[in-house]
Amino acid sequence: MATVNDHYLKLKAGYLFPEIARRVSAFAEANPEAPLIKLGIGDVTEPLPEACRQAMIQAVQDLGSRDTFKGYGPEQGYAWLREKIATHDFQARGCDIDASEIFISDGSKCDTGNILDIFGDNNTIAVTDPVYPVYVDTNVMAGHTGSTNERGEYEGLVYLPITAENQFIAEIPSHKVDLIYLCFPNNPTGSVATKAHLQAWVNYAREHGSVIFFDAAYEAFISDPEIPHSIYEIEGARNCAIEFRSFSKNAGFTGTRCALTVVPKTLTAKAADGTDVELWKLWNRRQSTKFNGVSYIVQRGAEAVYSEAGQAQIKALVNFYLDNAQIIREQLTAAGLQVYGGVNAPYVWVQTPNGLSSWDFFDKLLHICHVVGTPGSGFGAAGEGYFRISAFNSRNNVETAMQRITQ
Ligand code: MLT
Repeated sequence: MATVNDHYLKLKAGYLFPEIARRVSAFAEANPEAPLIKLGIGDVTEPLPEACRQAMIQAVQDLGSRDTFKGYGPEQGYAWLREKIATHDFQARGCDIDASEIFISDGSKCDTGNILDIFGDNNTIAVTDPVYPVYVDTNVMAGHTGSTNERGEYEGLVYLPITAENQFIAEIPSHKVDLIYLCFPNNPTGSVATKAHLQAWVNYAREHGSVIFFDAAYEAFISDPEIPHSIYEIEGARNCAIEFRSFSKNAGFTGTRCALTVVPKTLTAKAADGTDVELWKLWNRRQSTKFNGVSYIVQRGAEAVYSEAGQAQIKALVNFYLDNAQIIREQLTAAGLQVYGGVNAPYVWVQTPNGLSSWDFFDKLLHICHVVGTPGSGFGAAGEGYFRISAFNSRNNVETAMQRITQ
């Protein structure tokens, strides 16, 4: 008889966003006339930038001629895209990252999960609480945890609470952890980290031989010039950090799929026999075996992000969503709610009013205002009493949703 991966049975019933979608569908079926506005999952709504579309159209044409046709591409991504990323996203900010250290992929969600393939099973793993649920669930699937306690926390994970008291910035642990997930700008709270804070993490990681998984999927939303966009802006990070980035939120590629992971060649971890192993080699081996790359068409579209027109268009897109975030912040604040985030991030983190639980507030907004958000407790026990509102939507929908909530 075939057996299953029992670790999956420890997972909570549904992944957060499909679970929300399930509840919303049930509501919509029972109330077909209700004009729902979805500010839950951070999915973009505005059209792909013109520069990307034109590049993709040209790429389709390339595939129509034997001379320019492409079959399998390099598993690591085309060099012309990796070089543009290295120059514009890293070297221009003073980061010593080479194109060969960049791996193109179809998403940061996949990469932050898949990266566990190259690490051992005995690492101590730290996540913030609340946290992007993928980090936790993929560790559960890999068998790195026990079961949940009554707070919904998995035995074996180290939870670093991020709360209003610490400005949603985790304190550095006093004991050793091996793998640390950091996400800045933060999903779900919208907080950002200063250089000094990231330097403290890098110093900690180097002292303990830890590896930081730095999820920078929302870096384009940083509007404060003092805030670092990449962990590699921090001295020593080449020796302790892997960075994840995405074209999903800055260029609207959530449906098109393109992202990247940076694994510096100077980054090592220990083999069972105590030798130092280059993580780049393992990730390269993993990707070459399990991944066949992102389509040529999509990579050409991503490359166009770095053209002059593309840069202007993605800036406009990011600013559009940031203006939405400002509207959400201002309107909810004026209505007397305590809000956080939404300044350097597309997410606004709202304290639920009158001590309502996150799911009760979710139900209230759904049933009374016909607005969908994300319950903070879905991101972890410390998210209880909070609610996340995404700024990814049309202006009209954001304004209408705010009117409904605040009246
Ligand atoms: C979110 O809403 O947290 C994001 O859309 C999730 C993701 O990017 O996978």
